[in-house]
Amino acid sequence: MIDEKINQKYLEKIKLFQKFNKHYYNLNKPLVDDTEFDRLKLEIISLEKKHNFLKHKNSPSNIVGFKPSKIFKKVKHKTAMLSLGNAFSEEDLVNFEKKILNFLNNEQGLNIEYSAEPKIDGISASLLFKDGKFVTGLSRGDGKEGEDITENLKTIKDIPNEVKSKNFPKEIDIRGEVFIQNSDFKDLRNKFANPRNAASGSLRQKDPRETEKIPLKFIAYTFGYEKGLKVSTQEDYLKKLKEWGFKTNPLNKKIKTVKDLMKNYNEVEKKRDQINFDIDGIVYKINDFVLQKRLGNVANAPRWAIAHKFSANSGISKIKNIEIQIGRTGALTPVAKIKPVNIGGVVVSNATLHNEEEINRKDIRIGDTVLIERAGDVIPHVISVDLKLRDKKSQKFNFPKNCPSCGSKTIKDFNFTTKKEDAVRRCSSEGYECEKMAVEKIKHFVSKEAFNIDGLGKKIVENFWNLNLIKFPQDIFKLDYIKIESLDGWGKQSVANLKYSINQKKTISFEKFIYALGIRHIGLENAKIISKNLKSLKNFVSLSKKNNFDSLINIDGIGETQINSIINFFKNSINLDVLKNLEKVLIVKNTEDQKTDGVFNDKTFMFTGKLPNMSRSEAKSLIEQNSGSIVSNVTKKLDYLIVGEKPTNRKVETAKSLNVKILDKSSWLKMLK
Ligand code: IVH
Repeated sequence: MIDEKINQKYLEKIKLFQKFNKHYYNLNKPLVDDTEFDRLKLEIISLEKKHNFLKHKNSPSNIVGFKPSKIFKKVKHKTAMLSLGNAFSEEDLVNFEKKILNFLNNEQGLNIEYSAEPKIDGISASLLFKDGKFVTGLSRGDGKEGEDITENLKTIKDIPNEVKSKNFPKEIDIRGEVFIQNSDFKDLRNKFANPRNAASGSLRQKDPRETEKIPLKFIAYTFGYEKGLKVSTQEDYLKKLKEWGFKTNPLNKKIKTVKDLMKNYNEVEKKRDQINFDIDGIVYKINDFVLQKRLGNVANAPRWAIAHKFSANSGISKIKNIEIQIGRTGALTPVAKIKPVNIGGVVVSNATLHNEEEINRKDIRIGDTVLIERAGDVIPHVISVDLKLRDKKSQKFNFPKNCPSCGSKTIKDFNFTTKKEDAVRRCSSEGYECEKMAVEKIKHFVSKEAFNIDGLGKKIVENFWNLNLIKFPQDIFKLDYIKIESLDGWGKQSVANLKYSINQKKTISFEKFIYALGIRHIGLENAKIISKNLKSLKNFVSLSKKNNFDSLINIDGIGETQINSIINFFKNSINLDVLKNLEKVLIVKNTEDQKTDGVFNDKTFMFTGKLPNMSRSEAKSLIEQNSGSIVSNVTKKLDYLIVGEKPTNRKVETAKSLNVKILDKSSWLKMLK
């Protein structure tokens, strides 16, 4: 090859490397997985070695401290590190408070106070202190399991090595944010795109001496597992943190009403650029720990806290085209391809149009000039159309009546709850029959919350699909590695890595397995409920073998919609085939009985009628917290029927005839004491 051509090839790779880097570090949305990223880096470096005239300031050989290391030991968090739900408006906050009050049954005299804490945009860490000594420091990881970055955290001056105060708990995970001040970031601009990346990159260096060079800060704001913590509000906890020698956010405030939350929000947002660290919103936490405990968590976020994000950035652009994407459940999502526009430092070229109804309501057309909004990590969307600038010849957008992938009819389901047609139009085929749905199903199967297979990202799934290497989930476990090794961009090492990560995932929990199947309406939470109740894949499969789905009716939290969806899933012969083949290659671990040390262990409960001063959700969560389970039918298997005001007589009568114990609220609560 002549030098010019080599240089051209090299520059193309550098450009791609920059793009990957930007998506990984700036946008936090990697385009490729680590293996592919590393491969490209190696290709560039080896080209440079071969041809010494090749040089570029953005070459991976020049950029130091960019890519975090993968060498850290994984450690389970004793208490999961949760994430937070988002609020964007006053209305969202009003709803947040309403939900809390409902859960707490609108009890009189409730003292709803919030701890309002500016949300620092850094990297969260959990620091375990035992007998006053800092022992282990973990990154958040996936919330359940983090990386052991103790040595690096020890280099941070804000983290005390030892706390000698008398009232410091015997054991506690102090949690907070590691970040870099904007003033310190100035000197790091050439190495990192923004302060958050700088914090993340330096915190995950192999050599703690590298971490030490960066002036990282730590602000504490919550805790995980604890033994001997004696505080009853977040406000007191924050005070204690200061006493113990931790830094807390100087802008934290205790606030009572939504109106005052909004006032504080507007004030802080105005000051945002004068603060020496990046904040992307305000976290509100219910101040009272008793209320926090009563409220508990949903899937992976607490009910008692929310992040109020700062207002979105927006920009004007033009719609070049409208494309239809097909999701794994067949939903047709229209996406506007827009003229690239820079919104808040990010180049946006796609904006979601949500669904057919949204396009009709806003009458969005190809060629229209539109206002685009981008808020935090939410997908950019079209806010409005500038009708004055509309081309007179433009035509209404016709939403496809047939699936653009498989040609099946598209349908709108009738929603029995809202008694209306769904806004979303779907492909009517059953899943693997539609190519686009099938690829999406496989992407879901390997995704983080499901099988979480390292090195098998979305792009690779698509690539393998096109090469006929993967058509169904079971194909993942029978890959033709020899063929893959011969593919462009793959080598011995990367294939060995892929094989290793796939083999590791051949043993999987029943809960993750159900979720991975991607059955419509069976998300993380429902998969968890089913796995807790059915316990094993064998029981799940036998639902269909015996054509007996009745046992699902008894599972609290699983409704008609979910049951119908499961029945539909089993009706499809391809699904049955996928299941059969997966059973052959996988070990699906049975669900172990969870926490059995509660007083309601092994006991089943059912409610009828309204409990005085307690919402149904709180009552259920109290039973679960104490290892009991809830059923939704009166059968012989029911241990206790708890009767409130205006109960259903039939339930009470059946319970009596089956000798089920009947309790009122106060005798039930006495069992707890
Ligand atoms: S509390 C269960 N408090 O926000 C409560 N988080 O989306 C979860 N964050 O990963 C954490 N400032 O990195 C909490 N004052 C604050 C925070 C804060 C920033 C980050 C944290 C967490 C994310 C939650």
